[in-house]
Amino acid sequence: MVRDIVTYPADVLTRPTRKVEEFDGSLKELIRDMFDTMYSAEGVGLAANQIGVSLRVMVIDTALKEDVPDIKLVLINPEISSSEGRIKFKEGCLSFPGLSVEVERFEKVEVKALDEEGREKVIHLEGFPAIVFQHEFDHLEGITFLDRLSGWRRRIALEKYKKLQREAQKV
Ligand code: NI
Repeated sequence: MVRDIVTYPADVLTRPTRKVEEFDGSLKELIRDMFDTMYSAEGVGLAANQIGVSLRVMVIDTALKEDVPDIKLVLINPEISSSEGRIKFKEGCLSFPGLSVEVERFEKVEVKALDEEGREKVIHLEGFPAIVFQHEFDHLEGITFLDRLSGWRRRIALEKYKKLQREAQKV
């Protein structure tokens, strides 16, 4: 089921999410809904708090982005166990419709997480999928990509977003 995407500013986007402890049917339903919602918004990643559920769950599917490997992932209670290199990329966010900002991230990350059955897995991500992962990981920590900008760059991005929101309300 496609759910509504929460947009900034909303409390649920600026609070750290809770760890998942129950690997039951409602978790599987949440994951299905997250994929449905992400695909319907043509996104490549979604964190549970973006649909108002404050749990450490993210989904990623890079299939919509051309020229990158297709990677589809469900990551629960993820942690970054190691990281390497730096990479800059202009990111968008479904919780900031219309806004894109350049953010610096790790180029490679090693991630420990659980799958939807609660089994541990370790994955290695590099380039675009690593960027998407770190963007969604920030969401789970209650951080948005605006928080990755400093001083005047943050202020300009916020002004631009407010303007986009005002324009969207007019139509
Ligand atoms: Ni986002």
